[in-house]
Amino acid sequence: MKLFLLFILFIIGTNLYAEQILQNTTCKRCHPKIFNEYQNSMHHKASIYKDPIHKAIWDRHPDKKKDNYKCAKCHTPADKALINKQIKLTPNKTQLNEPISCQTCHQIKSIEKHAKANINIYTTKKKTFFSKDLKRKGEKLIFHDKTSFFGLFHTTVGSPYHNIDYSNENFYNANVCLGCHDHKQNEKGFVVCDIQIKQNDTKQNCISCHMPKIKGSFVNQHDTKKHAYHGSNIVTASPAMLEKYIKISLQKDQNKFSLILENKANHTLFPHPLRLAVLKVSIQRNRKITPLKEHKFVRIIGTDGKPTPPWLATTILKDTTLKAYEKREITYNTKLEKKDQLIVKFGYHIVNPKIAKKLNIKDTHYTKFITFKKKVFTIK
Ligand code: HEC
Ligand code: HEC
Ligand code: HEC
Ligand code: HEC
Ligand code: HEC
Repeated sequence: MKLFLLFILFIIGTNLYAEQILQNTTCKRCHPKIFNEYQNSMHHKASIYKDPIHKAIWDRHPDKKKDNYKCAKCHTPADKALINKQIKLTPNKTQLNEPISCQTCHQIKSIEKHAKANINIYTTKKKTFFSKDLKRKGEKLIFHDKTSFFGLFHTTVGSPYHNIDYSNENFYNANVCLGCHDHKQNEKGFVVCDIQIKQNDTKQNCISCHMPKIKGSFVNQHDTKKHAYHGSNIVTASPAMLEKYIKISLQKDQNKFSLILENKANHTLFPHPLRLAVLKVSIQRNRKITPLKEHKFVRIIGTDGKPTPPWLATTILKDTTLKAYEKREITYNTKLEKKDQLIVKFGYHIVNPKIAKKLNIKDTHYTKFITFKKKVFTIK
């Protein structure tokens, strides 16, 4: 009888775990650093309830009237009930706290390529997470004890909560990011966004640049010294982490000068139709600062020669975005003099102020100019 009761308790216990597994707070117990970083990431804020920009576009989208939130497959894939059409879009806990959850990424088994948009294929194995570790590549790690030195020392290997599968190539070549981040077409078959990756550098990929290893253990049970940064968010992660991938250099001539802007990322910079990147240059001479003409990098989409919202667009009206590995030379017909300070700022507006006006977005966080890289040249 006792044994039977224990058995029942065990069953209830494992079921409770099965319920909990849907929540990032479970991971927090053992992976608190990563959990805290994630809270600041755009993956944590990808739903209409946490991202006012996503909401502003959704509110105007024709699918809203049909209550057909197709954005879910990339913006809120953890809301399985919504994806399976069992519920309508509501501000439930998943939408608010983990629209793209820890498990969303760690259970992506493979990516299916499609013209419209790629699709993530998730593993159906419960409590099995994919991860990357070059020393364990190919292994499948099940929790076990390890004794060494004739049984004197005991350690545990693996996680008491889940299995780990280190054999998924997509975690090594970073294809795991491309189910959502590669490209997207609208109903008219027009490509609204495309990050246009050029893979000619195998040492650098989405993970090495956007999730670099930084100080702090990835788990409470061992001190691993480092963990992969999980706070993906262009505003809070840069410039400290990413500015080194943009190079700015100066070429001086008799009566003019050029700035050379080099994009070392393997993708187009700021391809999203809402963004506006700007190069701001000014000359400081005898304490007086004179701004020069701004240079803009945009991708404007529309139809019949006029800009439109993404769902109506059929052509690219203008595209001056910096492509992968591109070096762009921008010439200024201004003479530089000895002792001049040339102040160069490269940055972006999250929402192009012209579009923000149309969308009635007033929060300056989204409309202001954010400096991503600053460089000062002193003329000799
Ligand atoms: C009871 C503690 C515990 C919980 C809860 C837990 N983990 Fe872990 N996890 C561990 C331990 C311990 C390791 C390290 C295993 C090793 O390397 O020996 C680990 C390792 C991992 C790894 C692989 C790390 C590597 O080596 O690359 C991933 C990914 C991971 N956990 C994800 C998760 C996610 C996602 C959740 C929540 C759904 C979670 N964990 C919940 C204890 C836990
Ligand atoms: C194929 C995956 C995918 C689908 C489907 C998708 N998105 Fe996105 N969306 C993304 C990704 C990835 C980003 C981040 C891109 C970036 O920052 O450059 C993004 C970013 C955005 C942004 C910018 C958010 C910000 O904070 O600046 C808006 C707005 C947006 N999406 C609206 C929508 C709407 C509305 C839908 C549904 C009608 C939708 N998206 C469907 C992948 C998708
Ligand atoms: C956007 C996808 C994505 C999300 C969301 C995500 N991870 Fe990860 N995670 C990864 C990738 C990719 C790696 C491999 C990084 C590497 O080793 O270079 C990783 C690595 C890890 C590792 C182990 C390796 C290390 O060095 O840190 C742990 C543990 C982990 N994640 C836990 C979590 C937890 C807990 C959450 C939720 C709070 C989470 N992840 C959310 C993609 C993701
Ligand atoms: C399940 C879909 C999905 C996966 C997988 C995914 N992302 Fe994202 N990611 C998004 C969406 C959607 C957004 C934009 C959310 C928003 O702005 O509302 C985003 C935002 C970002 C941002 C921040 C952009 C900004 O505007 O601040 C970065 C950086 C990023 N992702 C990198 C990655 C990397 C690197 C990986 C792979 C390890 C990855 N993502 C995997 C869907 C995904
Ligand atoms: C060599 C480094 C490097 C690599 C590799 C790289 N990125 Fe980036 N990424 C950058 C830099 C630099 C920026 C600009 C960052 C900023 O403004 O904060 C950026 C910006 C982004 C943004 C934000 C764009 C926006 O307008 O919101 C997303 C999303 C992103 N990268 C996703 C990816 C994905 C997915 C991959 C893999 C295909 C990838 N990155 C590979 C360096 C890199």
